[in-house]
Parts: sequence; C-alpha cells; structure tokens
Amino acid sequence: MTSERKATLIIEGHEPQEFPVLTPVHGNECVDFRNLAAKTGMFSYDSGYMSTASCRSAITYIDGDKGELLYRGYPIEQLAEQCNFLDVAYLLKHGELPNTQQKAEFENIIKTHTMIHEQMARFYQGFRRDAHPMAVMVGVVGALSAFYHEAEDFTDPRQRNINFNRIVAKLPTIVALAYKYSMGEPFMYPRNNLSYTANFLHMMFGTPCEEYVPNPVVVKALDTIFILHADHEQNASTSTVRLAGSSGANPYACISAGIGCLWGPAHGGANEACLKMLEEIGDISRVPEYIRRAKDKDDPFKLMGFGHRVYKNFDPRAKLMRKICAEVLHELGLVNDRLFELALELERIALEDDYFVEKKLYPNVDFYSGIVQKAIGIPTSMFTCIFALARTVGWMVQWEEMISDPEYKIGRPRQLYVGAPRRDVPSLDKR
Ligand code: CMC
Repeated sequence: MTSERKATLIIEGHEPQEFPVLTPVHGNECVDFRNLAAKTGMFSYDSGYMSTASCRSAITYIDGDKGELLYRGYPIEQLAEQCNFLDVAYLLKHGELPNTQQKAEFENIIKTHTMIHEQMARFYQGFRRDAHPMAVMVGVVGALSAFYHEAEDFTDPRQRNINFNRIVAKLPTIVALAYKYSMGEPFMYPRNNLSYTANFLHMMFGTPCEEYVPNPVVVKALDTIFILHADHEQNASTSTVRLAGSSGANPYACISAGIGCLWGPAHGGANEACLKMLEEIGDISRVPEYIRRAKDKDDPFKLMGFGHRVYKNFDPRAKLMRKICAEVLHELGLVNDRLFELALELERIALEDDYFVEKKLYPNVDFYSGIVQKAIGIPTSMFTCIFALARTVGWMVQWEEMISDPEYKIGRPRQLYVGAPRRDVPSLDKR
C-alpha cells in the first residue's frame, strides 16, 4: 500500500518534511498526512473533504471521471443485470458473490427474520400520523438498539453477522410499517413465499381485504433501485455511520445517525426534493423559467436530481435507472403522464444547456429513481426511506470494515478556530 515515493512539504520557515505516498488499487494516490501535526504543528484544512481520504476501504470504488461504479470490483451494470439485491448484499458483506448453496441459505435466513418484535410495532403509535417517515425511521431503527442489546458485543464476528442479517431482513418491514402508519392502514405481516422485494411491495400495498399481486416489471425496477443504492463509498451518510461507530456506539444507533444524514436534500432527500420541484414547475411551458433560475447566481434554487460531487461525466446508476424508468412508464401506461413528460423535457433541455454541460451537471440516480417510485405509487415522502433501506447494507458493511481495521481510532477532526480571542467575563453591569 505504501509506495517508495515520498511527498515533500515545504512550508515557509519550516524544514521540508517528507510524507509517504499511499498507492491504491484504483483511483487517486494519497499523501499520508497522519503525522502532519506531529511533524509541523499544523493541521490540514479541507472542510468539505474535497481532497481527503478518510479511510482505507475494500468495498466500493467510484471513478467519477469515467462514470464507473464497482462493488467489490464488479461493475454495477453487470450486477444490476445478473443479480438480485440479496446477492449484492451478500457480495458487499462477504466480499464474494454467493454460490447456489450460499444464495439459498442467505435468502432463507433473511426471509425468516423479517418480522419485528410486536412491541416494536406498537412503538409507531407514539409518532404523530403526519410525521415525516424519515423521522419515524430515525426513531424506530435507533430503537432496534433497545430491543437487541447483544448487538453491543460487536467484537464477535458471529454477532456481527447476526446484526447484519437482522437489519437487512427487518428494514423492509420497518419502512412499510412507517408507510402504513402514515396512511392509517393495518400493518401487513411479511410473507415468506415472496422474494425480498416482492414482499416489501406486499407489505406496502397489500391490505387484509385483498391479496396484492406484485407486477414483475415493478419488482425488478424496485430491486434495481435497491442494488443501485446499496453502497457508494465514503458519502456523507456513510461517513456519518463510520464516525458515529468510531466511538464504539451500538451499530443500530449508528445506522439511525446515517438515516438522519441521508434525509437532507443535498443527499438522499434529493429524490423527494426532485419530485416536489417537478410538481412546483407544474407545466412544460415553465421549464425554461426554472432552468434560468438554476443558472442565476443570486437565486439559491438548484435543479434537484442534477449534479454530483464525484461523478463529473455521468452517473452510471442514472444510466441504468433511466432505462428502468422507461420500462416502468411503458408497463404502467404512464408514458403520457403530465409529470413524467415534464421530467423528460427538463432532462432534455438541461442536457443541451451550456451551463449544465460546462459544469458537467448530469441527471443523477435520484432524478430517475424518484420518477420510477412515483410511477409505482410510492408517496414522495417515502422515497428517501427506500434509499435508506438499500443503503443500510452499505452502512453495515462499512461500519464492520471500520471496527475490524487494526488502524481504527475514534474519528476526531480538528478545526481552524475563527471565533473571539481569549477574553475575560465582564461583570453584569459592564455587558
Ligand atoms: N443546479 C444548478 N446548479 C448546480 C447544481 C444544480 N443541481 N449542482 C451544482 N450546481 C452548480 C453550483 O452552483 C456550482 O456553481 P459555481 O461553480 O458557479 O459556484 C457548480 O455547479 C459546482 O457545484 P457544487 O455545489 O460546488 O458541487 P458539489 O460537489 O459541492 O455538490 C451536489 C454536489 C450533488 C450537492 C449538487 O450538485 C446539488 O446540490 N445537486 C442537487 C441535489 C441532488 O440532486 N443531490 C443528489 C446527489 S446524488 C444522490 C446521492 O449520492 O446522495
């Protein structure tokens, strides 16, 4: 990992200092600055982590310039084509795709752990009916730590496997219950004869009065959304999970922290924000006005579902999702729907516009996944919960990688202090 090469840092008034250069399998080399403060008394300043690798990781790799995403080395396109979400979850967790026997065993374990404690189901009653489902998710997933105390013994790999299987199995139930609660409908128990994704749709849209028959095109579309969102290296929510976990906190509490971070519109909340934006635009005739606003420096408005911190060519997940989007709209007879026509017009104009082309602002995965979810009948406020369901796999795997790393330390960034200089507290009559 450490190459022979060294980086020399020359700071005025200091002796030049050498730092090791770390060579990755793919991607940018890194200058190892862990001894920077010890050697120079200075910190590095990189507030948005624009140039900082926060960890070593063997899980996911993104090449933003090429528009490439690999899970454990496998291109996302091949995984989306040939695997289902549970295969991908197994791959991310264990490093290899499951063989026939491992696949059957894993699917069986997940299927037989989908129910949640009855007392947990009652936990929902404490929330207001109009609570945002992501707020409910933060609470209920965090509450798993109160129901499964043994998760705290995360030094035991067997226990870590149990934690992983448990949360992957229960997340669809937790998300579906959040939806049912908001609708005031009866909770639907999981059905073990259905696939992971078909069962989720059953718990979302089934009722005790009528059997829900999942549409295979819809099941495939949602399963692909899960695959595409399963992990994305050191994004904001994953870094949140790692940072929370670095203190030795309960893993379910760490996942809850990740859900909180994902909620924001610049991250996982973009799919919801994108649909709200489309509703606000309302009509194709108003698209140019919103494009103009997005380009106006004095207007804080941004085109939701466009742009990405890492992908500066295209988002490979968006390419896959665009295809799925077309299939779902066709299958459900929604090709001429007003909102979907509007979305496609926005995409067309933005892709041709110099501002978006020059800044390399392409539609990201959330632009299309929001449209697909809307077409399936998932309410806008649930979109980020679907993202969280899938990303929980990545969060758990990244959390485990961190706590198993012999170099792991509690995360503790430093700062550039710009507040008041030291001063004395004046007496009350002098303030
Ligand atoms: N609409 C209009 N202008 C934009 C947009 C947009 N969606 N995104 C970036 N820009 C402009 C931005 O104003 C800036 O212009 P200038 O150079 O003149 O100051 C330039 O492009 C660079 O943008 P940035 O905000 O510095 O880039 P970033 O890497 O900090 O932000 C981003 C990336 C995703 C937060 C941002 O593009 C954005 O807010 N997009 C909309 C929200 C969104 O769709 N988020 C989902 C990301 S994908 C899901 C996930 O992985 O979480």
